[in-house]
Amino acid sequence: TTTDSRLLRAELLSFDADPGDDDTPTPGSVVHYPDGALWIENGRIRAIGDYATLAAAELPPGLEVIDHRGKLITPGFIDSHVHYVQLEIMASYGRQLLDWLNDYTFPEELRFTSREHADALSEAFLDEMLRVGTTTAQVFCSSHPVSVDAFFAASQRRGLCMLAGKVLMDRHAPEGLTDDVVGGIRDSERLIADWHGKGRLGYSLTPRFAPTSTRAQLDATGALLRSDASLWLQTHLAENTGELDWVAELFPGSRDYLAVYEQSGLVGPRSTFAHGIHLDREMRARLAERGANLAFCPSSNLFLGSGLFDRQAAREMALNVTYASDVGGGTDLSGLATLKAAYQVGQLRGQPLTAWQGFFGLTLGNARALSLDERIGRLAPGMDADFVVLDPAATPLLARRTARSRTLAETLFALMMLGDDRSVAETWAAGRLQHRRTPT
Ligand code: GUN
Ligand code: ZN
Repeated sequence: TTTDSRLLRAELLSFDADPGDDDTPTPGSVVHYPDGALWIENGRIRAIGDYATLAAAELPPGLEVIDHRGKLITPGFIDSHVHYVQLEIMASYGRQLLDWLNDYTFPEELRFTSREHADALSEAFLDEMLRVGTTTAQVFCSSHPVSVDAFFAASQRRGLCMLAGKVLMDRHAPEGLTDDVVGGIRDSERLIADWHGKGRLGYSLTPRFAPTSTRAQLDATGALLRSDASLWLQTHLAENTGELDWVAELFPGSRDYLAVYEQSGLVGPRSTFAHGIHLDREMRARLAERGANLAFCPSSNLFLGSGLFDRQAAREMALNVTYASDVGGGTDLSGLATLKAAYQVGQLRGQPLTAWQGFFGLTLGNARALSLDERIGRLAPGMDADFVVLDPAATPLLARRTARSRTLAETLFALMMLGDDRSVAETWAAGRLQHRRTPT
């Protein structure tokens, strides 16, 4: 057997624990090597350390060394909630959630009856994700099973760790997008059999949100979720006030929006609820108790005028918060741009987001909340070799700003506020170079 082995020399940053919300990270949370070495072998990280120390100790002769001095390597970014089928309706003007769904989103998702279209958009979406340093995402496909086959096949060809699922929707949507209780479950089961646990892929059951599923469909989804503890679940919760009124009308027997999902057994440690803006203390406590996570989607929440997510209220309850783009409601696929929007939302709430917390969130924080931290989210021996090579001097402006940074925290914050796809020099996943920025 041949070994595929190389070493990258760069500044390295990873997290072993939550750094907290103070300006100074919690002791022991940050792993930082100013002149570091990341040794990768056969798709995994073999060793990480100080370059001089590692070079003096144990490197085999002839090992390829890639010199990235001046650049910063972090674990690959994770996006906990995104719709690949909405890539081409990003930046659609003038609507809030329910009208945005009817006027832009549903017509667009109807195009995914075609395998050819789904293949093309899967490739385009993954190209864009890798361009911005995102190596893993939890993805909504459309309600058409072929949209899921296309996405998983494209992800598998690239060796990526991806979660995805077929949208379940048996009412209140155009005819070409709705399924029915039996058909939706049968299609989900077929997709699970074909893709769940294959390579680095995982299946996430995907009831769109309460208004587009009957109680019978939510119940059947809950039964399927209970049948296999390794499945994930993703849906939307309490994003928009018009949505809240509609849910109250449709489910008069539920005491609040979250109860609709609880009554069908959808709230568990592998469940992601996108948005969760309009919640009370009690609902947050119930989510925390179940170990679920809220996907904070700041650029989407600002774009659709949905509201200002209360990150502190969630953290006070030890409720997991993940970071997500929610494209096509979101305005940017970049994790850096998501952090920038999260900082802006935080400022409006008097809860500024530190760069430490932001970069932790995009990497180990998201990995843990999604139960993926055994394989991804850290630079550590044995972990999958998914990482991003950031260039703190990628543009003239960034170079000017980061030249004046006195601390790593300042450089990280500058990347979070001024960075974009240009700041991503390279993206690696499964030990493979997946993207290299072509200098302009
Ligand atoms: N709620 C139900 N469907 C959607 C969707 O596609 N995007 C967003 N942002 N919210 C939703
Ligand atoms: Zn969404």
